[in-house]
Amino acid sequence: MTHDPTSLRSHRWFGPDDVRSFGHRSRLKGMGFDDVDYQDRPVVAILNTWSELNTCHSHFRNRADEVRRGILQSGGFPVEVPVMSLGEMMMKPTTMLYRNLLAMEVEEVLRCHPIDSAVLMGGCDKTVPAMLMGAISADIPSIFLPAGPMLKGRFKNETLGSGSDTWKYWDERMAGNLCEHSWKCIENGIARSAGTCMTMGTASTMASVAEAMGFTLSGAACTPAVFADHSRLAVATGRRAVEMAWDKFTPSSFLTPSSLDNALTAALAIGGSTNAIVHLIAIAGRLGFELTLDRFDELSRITPVIGDIRPSGRYLMEDFYNAGGVPALLSRLTDLLDTQCKTVSGVTLGEQIANAEVIDDEVIRPRENPVSPAGGTCLLRGNLAPQGCVIKSLAADPKLLIHRGRAVVFDDYPAMKAGIHDPDLDVDANSVLILRGAGPLGAPGFPEWGMLPIPKKLLVQGVRDMVRLSDARMSGTSYGTCVLHISPESSAGGPLALVQNGDEIEINIPERTIHWHVDDAEITRRRSELKLPDVVPARGYGRLYAKHVTQADKGCDFDFLTGRSPGAEPGIY
Ligand code: FES
Repeated sequence: MTHDPTSLRSHRWFGPDDVRSFGHRSRLKGMGFDDVDYQDRPVVAILNTWSELNTCHSHFRNRADEVRRGILQSGGFPVEVPVMSLGEMMMKPTTMLYRNLLAMEVEEVLRCHPIDSAVLMGGCDKTVPAMLMGAISADIPSIFLPAGPMLKGRFKNETLGSGSDTWKYWDERMAGNLCEHSWKCIENGIARSAGTCMTMGTASTMASVAEAMGFTLSGAACTPAVFADHSRLAVATGRRAVEMAWDKFTPSSFLTPSSLDNALTAALAIGGSTNAIVHLIAIAGRLGFELTLDRFDELSRITPVIGDIRPSGRYLMEDFYNAGGVPALLSRLTDLLDTQCKTVSGVTLGEQIANAEVIDDEVIRPRENPVSPAGGTCLLRGNLAPQGCVIKSLAADPKLLIHRGRAVVFDDYPAMKAGIHDPDLDVDANSVLILRGAGPLGAPGFPEWGMLPIPKKLLVQGVRDMVRLSDARMSGTSYGTCVLHISPESSAGGPLALVQNGDEIEINIPERTIHWHVDDAEITRRRSELKLPDVVPARGYGRLYAKHVTQADKGCDFDFLTGRSPGAEPGIY
């Protein structure tokens, strides 16, 4: 098939015989490129979130060269462009504070440069939604390359899962059951290679979401970061990006509301991170679609959890990959999917998974033998969360799914840190631990503080789970009976701000309810005395964030960023 180079976006920079284009061309010459390198070829940007402070992306320097090889193989002109890296392990208070900043950077970098298509290299939690949101708003052909999970961790003869086993063994250490040497061995063995967390945390969930949505090549989500397969995936992704540039395969040309339903179904079927809900709502907003918590609830009630993957199951991402990965999982859910949705591969989702095969029924369970028949993650509503809240019920102690207990309230994270292990804390195993001031505005940034630690005095008694409520998120690698994303958050005046120590709170997961047993007159009295904290910083990005971030049920995007840009092209200059 012959292509028309003048149809390329980059032609406006390099094609015309005018003084501006002369400048563009001459500066490429100054970099050592000749006409043959770029003329009449799609310019394919490799948006790379490599950083030495992002441990999960440490292989991206080399991997970008492999993407470059694929672009050259297909006749494109590769340009590597660094964008902000959001590494979960090093950033405080939370990468979520910066998700929208990276999304804005991706959108503007794509828009203002001579770019015909892009390979988005991300993986560590927020880099995935941020890059997808930015590419959708710029509406330039884009394909996502997930970083891939790291190898399984190892401690003596045990397999370790990042995040999940950190929390588990920390509890044992706090309870006095783990010596210094063993703790050090776990530190040495829990992260054994480049790549994202190898549990079904937020990174693996969002990579799976991206694949089910149609934003990656088939099988990309689970390919381990340091396998040779990942290098080949990178090369193939580069090759496909060139074709997408010629075909003008923009996000708006293939994503539909059904693509988002497919993504949400996949997230539920793998027992994925609760964070996926917030990110998918934000992604939908960029597409101009409304994805509501009610839609999430509808899908939750009919989607079985068939991926038996930690923290809510038994296996790790490498096992999921060996079992067939996302294509195999989706092949067992075709009645719940719209298989006509298009993907960046250029084929429909149905065609993409047509030959998928489940290799291991223990990891990807048959529909007749699911991990859970439905409702692995649930939406709750009630007088404490008028706009909703969520719980990953699959990762909770079944004995706590219906529970009523006395509130033990912490006003913010420092108060919780200072008080949770106080021997005099008035708490028992039936108490309901509450953290507020931890939402999108309060923390700020909506950090992953929702898995409150179990008080030490209860740990030594053998308690390993309690009902915990917060307006925070929780890491996808976390577990326990943690009710999250309570909306509106306390710092926005939500009812959570009015709860006092000793108030009775009841959750009923089968009924999808949360109830605060305080009468309306008392609530009105407390509200009349409520003084909300000033959470808007005087300057900088924090000010922009605080003035425009939306609540959890709306996806925490900035209110002015929903939808696509009026045109992907900059003005004529
Ligand atoms: Fe990067 Fe978990 S810390 S994916």
